[in-house]
Amino acid sequence: MGGAPDLPPDFDVDVHRVAPDADTTAGPHEASMEAVVELCKRRGIIFQSSEIYGGLRGAWDYGPLGAALRDNVRAAWKRSMIQLRDDVVGLESSILMHPRVWEASGHVEGFTDPLVECRSCNTRHRADHLEPDAQGRVTCPNCGSAELTEPKAFNLMFRTYVGPTEDTAAQVWLRPETAQGMFVDFALVQLASRRKVPFGIAQVGKSFRNEITPRNFIFRVRELEQMEMEYFVRPGTDEQWHEYWIAQRWQWYLDLGVRAENLRVRDHAKEELSHYSKATVDFEYRFPFAWNELEGVANRGDFDLRQHSEHSGRDLSYYDQERDERYLPYVIEPALGVDRCALAFLIDAYREEQAPTAKGGVDRRVVLKLHPALAPVKVAILPLSRNEALTPTARRVSDLLKPRYLTQYDDAGAIGRRYRRQDEIGTPYCVTVDFQTVEDDAAVTVRDRDSMAQDRVAIDRLPGYLDERLALSGASVPG
Ligand code: GAP
Repeated sequence: MGGAPDLPPDFDVDVHRVAPDADTTAGPHEASMEAVVELCKRRGIIFQSSEIYGGLRGAWDYGPLGAALRDNVRAAWKRSMIQLRDDVVGLESSILMHPRVWEASGHVEGFTDPLVECRSCNTRHRADHLEPDAQGRVTCPNCGSAELTEPKAFNLMFRTYVGPTEDTAAQVWLRPETAQGMFVDFALVQLASRRKVPFGIAQVGKSFRNEITPRNFIFRVRELEQMEMEYFVRPGTDEQWHEYWIAQRWQWYLDLGVRAENLRVRDHAKEELSHYSKATVDFEYRFPFAWNELEGVANRGDFDLRQHSEHSGRDLSYYDQERDERYLPYVIEPALGVDRCALAFLIDAYREEQAPTAKGGVDRRVVLKLHPALAPVKVAILPLSRNEALTPTARRVSDLLKPRYLTQYDDAGAIGRRYRRQDEIGTPYCVTVDFQTVEDDAAVTVRDRDSMAQDRVAIDRLPGYLDERLALSGASVPG
């Protein structure tokens, strides 16, 4: 099977790059974290895990709409990274791996954060997250004491045991990144999928990190889901491919409606680089609390394949037939979290607007202007009122649309209130069935979430009308 050309195609994408020491102050924000967290809880998008027991820090549950949002984030990523490409294949490797994987990868030795303990209140903190106070002293954020222990390296991997014996021979780790599955399976996947370098392996899956201070809602969690792709290239072409993937990933966010002014790409300073990295950039999003990492795009060199070749004794080099050369491919890795990415999409979409009321006044409307591909519910079916003359037709419209998209049927309460509810969860289209529909024109009113403009559309044309609009926006619509 053929591969992509050895060097990336030309691209013309205007990426906003900033220096490693760029200011992280976020400035005024349209969406506050409190407003987004409150909306997520109220509408059952995201809430605390084990809430009835007081919650578990760093763990969150995604309700019906949140689960659909996550599905859509994953689908949008897989569509762009796998489905629309000839040079990337998918993988689902297991969470539990041979413990020697994590020795080879450097995680047992180096996947640590500096931990300090307050001698006064015994709380624990990440040393590199503590800000000096006005007198320049580093103090405990809980009690203000300056009596902190010296930082010690704390390994973030969760440990567990396979089988009934809890001893070191049975010890395994919950993976802290999905990436190692792609490296360990590199030769198997390359052979089975008959790919030539350059090609990529992509996967979406859970990872676990025992973060010292999980915080900012779903920004830093202990159980996360990652979307990672390892793109294997010939050494010497890696820098061009690194730039190419930075541009591709930039365009992905813009295509999904993220406002360019809230996104930037920051180069890592040399001393910031991970142990495996030759060069890394962070995609940073302007979260309400600060500019902070959304995604990393790293040039991992041949670190991982070399380590696994040495530690496993299995040669993971690649024979390039065209060049009659054998080499260990270099790797470009775009890596992001579903949770963090969902948070950025929610914040970016959150708007508070003035909207006219039916009685001629103005009302405050909260609207999630999510890209239709990300919106949990694509279409809401809203009979004008719960009336037996309207119900059968409204149900028929609902049955017509259900096989195509996730829909919601709602006939409870005033129509204006129902529109607001759909606006808050980001539903792009509301379809209203009224008396004219059943008595006269067999047509419905379709309301657009963003413009609030209304169109009268014949029921038999409705699937085509919606398909066209949703497909134009990149939301996948069954063929
Ligand atoms: N394989 C490379 C890797 O794992 P990373 O920068 O540690 O690199 C990649 O993680 C992405 O995973 C981050 O940019 C972020 O989106 C997400 N991520 C990492 N740790 C996270 C956490 N504790 N909570 C939420 N997302 C996290």
